[in-house]
Amino acid sequence: MTKSGEIILIASFICLFSLFGVIQAEGEAPAPTQTQTQFRVEGRVFCDVCRVLFETRLSKPMSGAEVRLQCRNQTDDSETFTVEGKTDDDGIYSLLAERDHENEICETILVKSSMDDCNEIPNEKFTKESARITITNKNGIVETTRHANPLFFFKKEVSPECTQVFKELELLPEEIDQN
Ligand SMILES: *[C@@H]1O[C@H](CO)[C@@H](O)[C@H](O)[C@H]1NC(C)=O
Repeated sequence: MTKSGEIILIASFICLFSLFGVIQAEGEAPAPTQTQTQFRVEGRVFCDVCRVLFETRLSKPMSGAEVRLQCRNQTDDSETFTVEGKTDDDGIYSLLAERDHENEICETILVKSSMDDCNEIPNEKFTKESARITITNKNGIVETTRHANPLFFFKKEVSPECTQVFKELELLPEEIDQN
């Protein structure tokens, strides 16, 4: 047998065995129950160049931003779950929350910026900006991917282009009135 023939034969064996492994694993897996559901929490992180805490056309998706998903017991406020992650090239994070988090307060918060001139974590009423999410399907929501509200790092100084954006935003109520 040629060298390449041998390699193909070995490769085929490996494939066959891994296939058996998969079949076996599937056969042994316990029937999934409600409590074993995994949830994925997704959201976007922006550099908020206008310091307004909402998305404008100037908001820049931030890649490599560090975020944390944390859950607390609703009754005694103790920490029940925490996981950290980073945003991808599009400024999107995707965190895995194992098990159901009914009766817990879960939120995503900013941990660390990847931009030197846009690293201020906004404070809202003396608490850090956060995005609340419910991580349970006991409320009838079957979808296991949850979308959190976007999170914003403040740029140190408001960009000059924001003046125009503010004008555009102020025009909106007038336009609505005319219709
Ligand atoms: C929350 O805390 C209370 C009181 O300590 C406890 O009885 C309850 O089981 C906890 N709930 C969760 C979801 O951990």
